[in-house]
Amino acid sequence: MKRTASWLIGGALLLLGAGEVWSQSTDRTGLLSDRQLMRMVVNPAAELFWSGGGVEETEAGSANRAPVSDERWTQLANAAAVLQESGNLLAMDARARDADWTRFAKQMNAAGAQALAAAQAKDQDKMFEAGSAVYDACYACHGKFIVRPANSLYKQNLPDDAFKPPM
Ligand code: HEC
Repeated sequence: MKRTASWLIGGALLLLGAGEVWSQSTDRTGLLSDRQLMRMVVNPAAELFWSGGGVEETEAGSANRAPVSDERWTQLANAAAVLQESGNLLAMDARARDADWTRFAKQMNAAGAQALAAAQAKDQDKMFEAGSAVYDACYACHGKFIVRPANSLYKQNLPDDAFKPPM
């Protein structure tokens, strides 16, 4: 009995320890670089998610981009899930640079969750809102953490509604 109890406690400590090693270590072994994470995981998921929301203006008129098949809705939900979980990957100690970074990573996690809910609800308006929330998270973090040249559009004090690329 006593043995079982100490084994259980030992096991619990081991599990806690393992969790800590993964999320709180600053060791980057086995991690993608931030640039790879952006280029290979975050950006493709965001592009895919955005491609399923809003209205596209073409010469032939406006085309609604909402999915028409369940398969496509599933693709968009999967992309949203990647975005949500990428927020956690960005928040890991090995990646987090300061409190702002962590805040933006959590913002992306929340936007991803919103995106997933919208895709699962197959709700066009929610898709559009979630797409904006995702965009805002990218934009906020890049605004502080991507070094820009002096003539960057981001430094021109453009009005909030002026188009600026997510980079
Ligand atoms: C918590 C911060 C953070 C968030 C949130 C974030 N990014 Fe980034 N992103 C970065 C940083 C830092 C870089 C620069 C990486 C480098 O060049 O080393 C970057 C670079 C990029 C790049 C350029 C990669 C390259 O090949 O040079 C793309 C594309 C990108 N991000 C897309 C996105 C998109 C899309 C989102 C939102 C869905 C997003 N990012 C959200 C921090 C963030």
